[in-house]
Amino acid sequence: MTRKRVAVLISGRGSNMAALIAAAKAPDYPAEIALVLSNVPGAGGLAIAESEGIATATIDSKAFPRDREGFERAMQAVLEAQRIDIVCLAGFMRILTPWFVGRWEGRMINIHPALLPAYKGLDTHARALADGAREHGATVHFVTPEMDEGEIILQEAVPVLPGDTAETLGARVLAVEHRIYPAALRMIATEYRLI
Ligand code: GRF
Repeated sequence: MTRKRVAVLISGRGSNMAALIAAAKAPDYPAEIALVLSNVPGAGGLAIAESEGIATATIDSKAFPRDREGFERAMQAVLEAQRIDIVCLAGFMRILTPWFVGRWEGRMINIHPALLPAYKGLDTHARALADGAREHGATVHFVTPEMDEGEIILQEAVPVLPGDTAETLGARVLAVEHRIYPAALRMIATEYRLI
């Protein structure tokens, strides 16, 4: 079995990244986490990746003011140097241009903390609570140029419980995220064929 080489792109604490790293330790997992790339220097997830012996890279998006594509070209160079097959966005807080998304069409996925197509964008837990939603959840989807719009790979619902706050609901959703992201990566790493 040739394992697909995966880059996880992060901006923060990296708990989904850690879940992917843990899952990829299984001998039959069809992907290896070859690189963790952060656009934020010192992002918490970088230290976790380093402690797991995984290659890391930081490309500070603030060093590319008003030059989104310059930032992405720098990322693309690192991804190509590392011979990456699949990109997983995991709390990566940058909007990507059609140029970069096009480079990774069908090979880049994202985890979103809501049951898409409901609650695209930010503050999903607070918005679900404000609406009186009865259920909420998480979605893994392919990345397309329109934010949170791509084809859904996996999603799972959780109940909204009486007395929930954005924090308690978010924690319930996060537990689901940590389960479905590795499962979705397993699916696409198995089915995806190098073009
Ligand atoms: C997760 O809730 C993810 O769904 C969203 O950003 C958060 C990242 O958390 N896109 P973490 O860095 O993976 O812990």
